[in-house]
Amino acid sequence: MKVTVTQIFLLLLLSLVHSFAEQRSNEEEEVERSQFPSGFLFGAATSSYQIEGAVLEDGKSPNNWDVFCHIPGGIKNGDTGDIADDHYHQFLEDIEIIHSLGVNAYRFSISWSRVLPRGRLGEVNPKGVMFYSKIIDNLLLKGIEPYVTIYHHDHPQELEERFGAWLSPLMQEEFVHFAETCFENFGDRVKYWTTINEPNLLAEMAYLWGRYPPAHCSAPFGNCSSGNSDTEPLFVLHNMLLSHAKAANIYRHKYQLKQGGFIGIIANTLMCEPLRDIELDREAAKRALAFYIAWMLDPLVFGDYPPEMRQYHGNGLPRFTSEETKLLTQSLDFIGINHYTSLYAKDCIHSTCSSDGDRAIQGFVYLTGERDGVPIGERTGMRRFFIVPRGMEKIIEYVKERYNNMPMFVTENGYSPPEKQDEQEEDLVQDAKRIEFHKAYLAALARAIRNGADVRGYFIWSLMDNFEWVYGYNTRFGLYYVDRQTLRRTPKLSARWYANFLTNSGHNHVENAIPGSFKIKDAILTRLKTQKAEM
Ligand code: BGC
Repeated sequence: MKVTVTQIFLLLLLSLVHSFAEQRSNEEEEVERSQFPSGFLFGAATSSYQIEGAVLEDGKSPNNWDVFCHIPGGIKNGDTGDIADDHYHQFLEDIEIIHSLGVNAYRFSISWSRVLPRGRLGEVNPKGVMFYSKIIDNLLLKGIEPYVTIYHHDHPQELEERFGAWLSPLMQEEFVHFAETCFENFGDRVKYWTTINEPNLLAEMAYLWGRYPPAHCSAPFGNCSSGNSDTEPLFVLHNMLLSHAKAANIYRHKYQLKQGGFIGIIANTLMCEPLRDIELDREAAKRALAFYIAWMLDPLVFGDYPPEMRQYHGNGLPRFTSEETKLLTQSLDFIGINHYTSLYAKDCIHSTCSSDGDRAIQGFVYLTGERDGVPIGERTGMRRFFIVPRGMEKIIEYVKERYNNMPMFVTENGYSPPEKQDEQEEDLVQDAKRIEFHKAYLAALARAIRNGADVRGYFIWSLMDNFEWVYGYNTRFGLYYVDRQTLRRTPKLSARWYANFLTNSGHNHVENAIPGSFKIKDAILTRLKTQKAEM
């Protein structure tokens, strides 16, 4: 039989239409809570610097972000975290709104400079400890699991000034001391610890692009007063991995058995698709994942950086001693995954690229959100974030395959709308697009779970609008709207949708899933009473 060119063309067209339809129907699939395993944690997430405010109150020292925000030109509109959402004073009301969502977990982080204002050189600040202790107690009383990140981008400025913070191995001992202070003071009640939020993103933002403090970078990535974008991110990440491993080691040996919790770390995960339908770009997409995600996770699972990185960085990539390798590979109970977007990857080894893609530190890959002017997914309020729900399924599949299906939590996933001039509260709370976003990403996550991925929780970023780092307050990820003048919190449509989604089935509260929870409850009530009497 002879096949004509027209027939081939028609066949191609049909298969295109089919795969497009399949993709659409996957993404529009309805999602229900009952599609997730029982005991699954559903929560909302925040971080200390982004919501607390109370910048120098009750013994807190200035941290790296406090200082950075006050350098003119660093943050959009000159915003700072001095007041943020004033969560430090409104945490009880905030726990009420968390509770009203019907979540069974809440992810937050601890401000290092509130608890240990001078790091190892000073004392523990009792008022800082008391603040987090009250948050934990009040969450538990409501049956909400505290899911604690020890470090989410903010550390005492003194550590920066004394020895260059993450650039120095001295930071490892400082971090271990901070982590141990947290285990000691909160570990009787916290069952989920994550040591460091997104070491990979932090290394890039602060030491490659120079956009987060201490703003180190070099050409072609940026124009900073100091730094080396080709090498510093590697050393900084190395120190963060060893900090994590040493802290986890202390937890395992001194606390875990007694306290019965779990410890993990959180990776920023970006999914990559080939820009062109050619082998070179398929390889580039894989390489981009290796140079970003496996960069931080391979050492923690296999004890060394990915082979691709060794190949292209040669001796520029730091090495682990055999003792360190041992610590690293015993340091994870689970992997936390922050996922927002996908980008296209273009090969820069054999193809011509812009100068920043053409570097070993970027894996010789150029990443872009557009193909022939068409974005990979709908645009959002973040320049590099596009709505690509299939990326969630793919990234979970990637982590599952590469790391032998280690337990995972999606520790962040969220949407911020493109900014519009003079937008009012009435418009911002009508956030149908955010609902659509979460439905589609949750449906993709449910598919990954049906395919066997061991995912145990999902946290929406964020509980409420907050200080979105260099973008300030006009980039809004919250389920709750926060009025910048009055700081009043108003539920958006998405908060009501999440509450509905969550109450559609049982297994909500985890109270009885915590070993010894009744004993814990008695102890909490007694402590809260004593604290009241002392005030
Ligand atoms: C960070 C959050 C941030 C969010 C949205 C994540 O990388 O952990 O602190 O607000 O992305 O940009």
